[in-house]
Order: sequence, then structure tokens, then C-alpha cells
Amino acid sequence: MSQRKPVRKAVFPVAGLGTRFLPATKSIPKEMLPIVDKPLIQYAVEEALEAGIDTLIFVTSRKKHAISDHFDTAFELETRLAEAGKVDLLARITQIVPKNVSRVHVTQREALGLGHAILCAESIVDDEPFAILLADDMIRSPGRGALAQMLDVHDQTGASVIGVEEIPEKMTRSYGIVGVNHAEDGFQEIHTIVEKPAPQDAPSRLGVVGRYVLSPHVFSCLRDVQAGAGGEIQLTDGIAAMLKSHRVLAYPFAGVRYDCGSRQGFIKATIDYALDHHELRDDILEHMSGILLQYSVEKESGKP
Ligand code: UTP
Repeated sequence: MSQRKPVRKAVFPVAGLGTRFLPATKSIPKEMLPIVDKPLIQYAVEEALEAGIDTLIFVTSRKKHAISDHFDTAFELETRLAEAGKVDLLARITQIVPKNVSRVHVTQREALGLGHAILCAESIVDDEPFAILLADDMIRSPGRGALAQMLDVHDQTGASVIGVEEIPEKMTRSYGIVGVNHAEDGFQEIHTIVEKPAPQDAPSRLGVVGRYVLSPHVFSCLRDVQAGAGGEIQLTDGIAAMLKSHRVLAYPFAGVRYDCGSRQGFIKATIDYALDHHELRDDILEHMSGILLQYSVEKESGKP
């Protein structure tokens, strides 16, 4: 059995500009957009809670109240639902975060990149390994959630662990890409990490997705990183610096990942989660069958 202290803190950077979803994200964070009936951030928080996290650290912008309101008590709404005997609905809004879990909100005053957002959480994380979840990467796992799987690896090895998945070659320009060696203990050890390379420069097809378990050493690496293009501090550059002195593993978690930072990924997640939902499934399937039928008839008749 491992004697390592369990990872308890998770950082949720939610201060990006979310430009791909404008105008929806003009006044609310992208992470508050709902997939079926829950905002993206709630799915990520649930994944963290399942993994044993008990301190949620949100790095927010000036639109922060939407996130903190979502996880706060909604006194008037709760009273109304209780009076109306709507027990199920009441449970849905009161059981989001258990009472023993603490929430901390820190502000990133300017969107200076993901690395900068993580640096904003340094004083709360302190000197212990911690998790990062990017809520716009939604992961549907068949069993244990992706973060729980990664914490198992951290627990076994003591190393930092980064979630990866194989991506199509033409997509390398949209991801951090890692180069790996196969280590004796069976894990994939990262020797290189490059932000958004051209396909011919990519060290592999393993793309980084928004789940990390990191040593607190990453903070000093991030402080040393120069701001890149657009004045942003990239988390990838901090991790690249950390590779010189720390073991960092790439972990291809079990599960399907949806890039909900893009409109296509967001719509695919909405369809799949709706089809999983016992109250919605039949209705949505019927609707989709109708669309597909119409589409194939139009195609056969040569209609554009
Ligand atoms: P993205 O790269 O998706 O950027 O950020 P974005 O600003 O959210 O969205 P687009 O590209 O303009 O549409 C990845 C994650 O990092 C957070 C975002 O909130 C998202 O969870 N982030 C990014 C910050 O918290 N601060 C930043 O300065 C940048």
C-alpha cells in the first residue's frame, strides 16, 4: 500500500475569454454553458469529488459570480422548492457539493494564459501535488472517472501525470503534444512537450487533454517561463521546464473526451448525454431518426 499523502486539492481555471462561444460567453464563463441540464463546470467538479478531492479552487475572472453562485446556497429557490414538496429538484441543487468540501475562489485579473491562471492558485495549493481540471474537456468514463484513474497512477509512482489521447495527425496544431519513452514500470514517461506543433514537427500523436496531476514544482517553473506569443504564459512551457528535474507521465485514460471548448464538440456531448438520459433518450432518438431519414431521402433525390 502507498504511504503517499492523497491529492486533495484541484484547480479549475475558468477565467478564459471563451471567444469561440461569443456572444454566449460575453457575460458568463464558458464553463457555465450547460450540457443537457448541468453546466460544464459541474461535471468537472463531480469528477474531482469522485476522485477524493476535498478542496476546489476556482480561478475566475470578473465574471466569477456565476460560478460561485452556482455552487452557493440559493436560499429563496430552495425554500420555494421545499414548500412545494419538490424533493427531487431540491436534491439536485443542494447536493452539488458535499458540506465537507471547501471552495476557494481566486481572481485572474487578466486572461494571460492557462499557465498564468495556475500561478494565481499557488498560495492556496501551497507545497503539495495537486490536480487541474479544464472543464471544457468533458470526459465520459466507463468506470472510474479520468482523474481518479490518474490519481491511482500518481499514488503508485509519485510522478506528475498528464491525461493524453491519440489525436488525428492533422489536429496537432490544436494540442500540446508529448514525446514519450516506455519506462520499466510500464508507464509512458514524457521527454518532450510541444505546444501546437505542425504535424511534421510533432513528437507523436499523443495530445494533452485537460487533466493534470502536478508536482508543486511547476509553480517555480511557470514563474521562470517567459510570456509567449500574445503575452500569455503557457502551462505547456512550465511543464516542459519541469521535465528536466521531475518525472512526468503521459496517461491515456479510459473514457471518451469531448472538446466542449469547440461548438462541434459541445454539440456532440449534448447529443451523447441526452441519449444517455433515461427521460430524454426515446424522444431525442425519434427526433434524430426523423432527421436522418429526411437527410437520406434528400440525398437520394439529389437535393443539395
Ligand atoms: P482555452 O485555450 O480554451 O481558451 O482555455 P478560452 O479563452 O477559454 O477559449 P477560446 O479559445 O477563446 O474560445 C483553456 C482553459 O484555460 C482557462 C479557460 O477558462 C479554459 O478552462 N484559461 C485560459 C484561464 O483560466 N485563463 C486564461 O488566461 C486562459
